[in-house]
Amino acid sequence: MILGIETSCDETAAAVVTGDGRILSNVVSSQAELHARFGGVVPEVASRRHLELVVPVLREALAEGNAELENLDAVAVTQGPGLVGALLVGLSAAKAIAWANRLPLIPVDHLRGHVASLYMQPEPAEPPLLCLLASGGHTLLIDVPEPGGFRLLGTTLDDAAGEAFDKGARLLGLGYPGGAAIDGLARNGDPAAYDFPVARVPGLDFSFSGLKTSLLYTVRDLADDELERRRADLAASYQHAIVRALSGRVQEAAEQTGASRIAVVGGVAANSALRAALPEAVFAPLALCTDNAAMIASAARYEEAVPFPGYLALDAYASG
Ligand code: KG4
Ligand code: ZN
Repeated sequence: MILGIETSCDETAAAVVTGDGRILSNVVSSQAELHARFGGVVPEVASRRHLELVVPVLREALAEGNAELENLDAVAVTQGPGLVGALLVGLSAAKAIAWANRLPLIPVDHLRGHVASLYMQPEPAEPPLLCLLASGGHTLLIDVPEPGGFRLLGTTLDDAAGEAFDKGARLLGLGYPGGAAIDGLARNGDPAAYDFPVARVPGLDFSFSGLKTSLLYTVRDLADDELERRRADLAASYQHAIVRALSGRVQEAAEQTGASRIAVVGGVAANSALRAALPEAVFAPLALCTDNAAMIASAARYEEAVPFPGYLALDAYASG
């Protein structure tokens, strides 16, 4: 049994996962409401909240998984990338638990964690795969030759896809984080009502910063009552542009690499239009799309453990 801990951004999460990928517990305490009034995650506020939540969340994950500390085989924790102050809370907790119980510690890269959300029971995906990771912080295309494999093919040159959703939601007055709100509102709108352009960049990279600017200009030109009337059309058209950019690049990458299977992970994998645009793709289970610790414990199964007590000097990293 592996205890996983994740505190890289604004979710305090702990989970117990078995070596064969069964989730015994998966507790996520989101701070989204705390950050909503600032319109984004405030790093210092996040760190302090992680400090308050980390022990209760750990206790709950152990209790729900019917796991005693003595029965654990390893502690896995997100080492980066993310907010360093937030990461350090999880990393320190992981070191303390591992050290006190003479357990090995497995530092996990958050992005490999998202990919490992695909390898859980009862329906683990089977590499080789071409994986799109689209979240609030990242948009990556990854070649996954085997479980635990990770070869970067492309990334965003500016905003992440989830960030584009969140910024769009803000312009439409939908609050933070806004991906799910745009998804919901877009169901009542016409995706062809507005033509929002997505920049074409060379290779297999992405760019989303121009898109939000074009939404900004469109919104600015609308009178308040008209904006209110067209909000669903704006959401649907904006979402359509992001989904077209993501699904188009994935298909190009699949052609270039000859990949036969496509997988999508990360918070944006929850998007219903993206799911519809890639009907053959394997999507991470909904509960494992946004940040969680089960995916971190899952990824740890493919990583090398640092034996007791050699991990006390491990440091967090902000970017990959
Ligand atoms: O993976 P995640 O929890 O965080 C990072 O690691 O960054 O992803 C959060 C992102 C947010 O930007 C949120 O707006 C987006 O995922 N998101 C969605 C949906 N649900 C969450 N975006 C589009 N449609 C959704 N249904
Ligand atoms: Zn994430």
